[in-house]
Amino acid sequence: MSMMIEKASALHGTLSIPGDKSISHRAVMFSSIAEGTTHISNFLTGADCLSTISCFRRLGVSITQDGSDVTVTGRGMHGLVPESSPVLLDTGNSGTTTRILSGILAPQPFVSVLSGDESVNRRPMKRIMEPLSLMGARIRSINGNGYAPLEITGGPLHGITYHAKVASAQVKSAVLLAGLYADGSTTFTEPAKSRDHTERMLTAFGAKVVSGEGNAVTVTPAEDLYGADVVVPGDISSAAYFIAAGLLVPGSEVLLKNVGINPTRDGILRVARTMGGDVEEVNVVNAPEPYCDLIVRSSSLHGTVIEGDLIPTLIDELPVIAVMAAMAEGTTVIRDAAELKVKESNRIDTMTEGLRAMGCDITPTDDGMIISGGKPLQGAKIRTFEDHRVAMSFAIAGLVADGETVLDDERCVRISYPAFFEDLQSLER
Ligand code: S3P
Repeated sequence: MSMMIEKASALHGTLSIPGDKSISHRAVMFSSIAEGTTHISNFLTGADCLSTISCFRRLGVSITQDGSDVTVTGRGMHGLVPESSPVLLDTGNSGTTTRILSGILAPQPFVSVLSGDESVNRRPMKRIMEPLSLMGARIRSINGNGYAPLEITGGPLHGITYHAKVASAQVKSAVLLAGLYADGSTTFTEPAKSRDHTERMLTAFGAKVVSGEGNAVTVTPAEDLYGADVVVPGDISSAAYFIAAGLLVPGSEVLLKNVGINPTRDGILRVARTMGGDVEEVNVVNAPEPYCDLIVRSSSLHGTVIEGDLIPTLIDELPVIAVMAAMAEGTTVIRDAAELKVKESNRIDTMTEGLRAMGCDITPTDDGMIISGGKPLQGAKIRTFEDHRVAMSFAIAGLVADGETVLDDERCVRISYPAFFEDLQSLER
C-alpha cells in the first residue's frame, strides 16, 4: 500500500513514545530464562518484539500479553522445553531476535533452527557464529552462506575472551548470555561501546556483569537469574522521527513523553544540538534505564561531522539524521558507519536513492554519506525497500518537501512503530 505525505505547517502537540524495541526484546528473553514471574509494562507491540514472544512460546514459556502489558512466567536457565525436535523458530524481520536468541540456544540441550524473512536471511550471522563456536557451540548456516537459517545443536560451553571487529550490541548480548552458561568467565570487547541494555538488565536480574577498560564487559557464569519487573522507557529511535520533524517544520513545538536517554543511545540528541537544534530535556528520571520528556522546537540547522565512537549511539537514527542534514545549511559528513549497509536494507544506498529523488545533493561513500544540505526538497515517489526506518525517515522528509511525497509501501512501520502515522497525524498542523 502506498502513502502520500504533504508539506506540513507548524506541528504542535504531545506524543507518548512507544516502548524501546531493544529493551522490550531483552525483557522477554531474560525473564523467560529467569526464576519467577516478570511483569513488563510499556512493552513495544511492534512486529519484531512479537517475533521474540512467539519464539519463547515455542520454547515452552508461558507469556500473556494485553497490549503493552506482558507477563512472563520464567522457566529458569535450564527449563526451556522446545515444542518439537528440532524446534523451528521464526524470527520474522528481527535481526536482534535471531542474534541474541542464538546466545541463549547455544548452551541448551536441544536442537534449534532459526530462520527469518528474506531480509533477516540476508543479514550477516558469522559475527555471532564465530564467537559462539569459539565457546564450543555447534552452530551452522544451513545454506553455508553465513546467513540464517541457522541450526544450533546446544551443548556445554567454555568461557572466552573475544575481541569483536565491529561494535554490536547484538553480538555482545549473544556472547554474554552464552557466557552465563559457560564453565568460566567470558569477556567481550568491541571497538566502540554499543548499547548496554543487556548489561543493565542482566545485573538487575542478579547476574554478575562488570565493565572494564577499553569497552570490555565480563560476565561470570550464573546459577540462576531472578526476574524483576521491567518498565520499558519510550524508544529514542522512534522519538527520533518527531525530534527531526519538530526541528525541521517551521514554527513547531512538540513534547515527547517518556523517552529513554541511556547514554549509549542518545547520540541523536548530541548531534541535533551540535547542528543547532533546540531539544530540551525535562523531568529526567535516573532509573536503571534513564528517561525524560523532550521539548523540541523548530530550529535552523547547520551541517556537522558524525563519526567514531558516536556512531553506535545513533546507528539506527542515521537515516533520519540524513534527512536533517539535507535540510541543514552546509555539509554533513557521516563516516565510520559501514554497518548501515547490513541493516534491514543497505541504508547508505536506500537513503541515497530517496534523497536524490527529492533533489538532495548526497554522495554515498564506503562507510557513510556526504550531504550538501540547504536546498529545498521536492516531493517524490520513494521506494522504502520494506525498511521501517527508511519509510519513517521519508515520511518526515515529506513534511518539509514541496509537493507530494509518496512512499511505495509504508506497512513496514509495524516493525518498530505500529502507530507511527496516527501519531504523526495527531500533531496539529
Ligand atoms: C540492537 C543493536 C543494533 C541496532 C538494532 C538493535 C539491539 O544492532 O542497530 O536495531 O537491540 O541490540 P547491532 O548490534 O548489529 O549494532
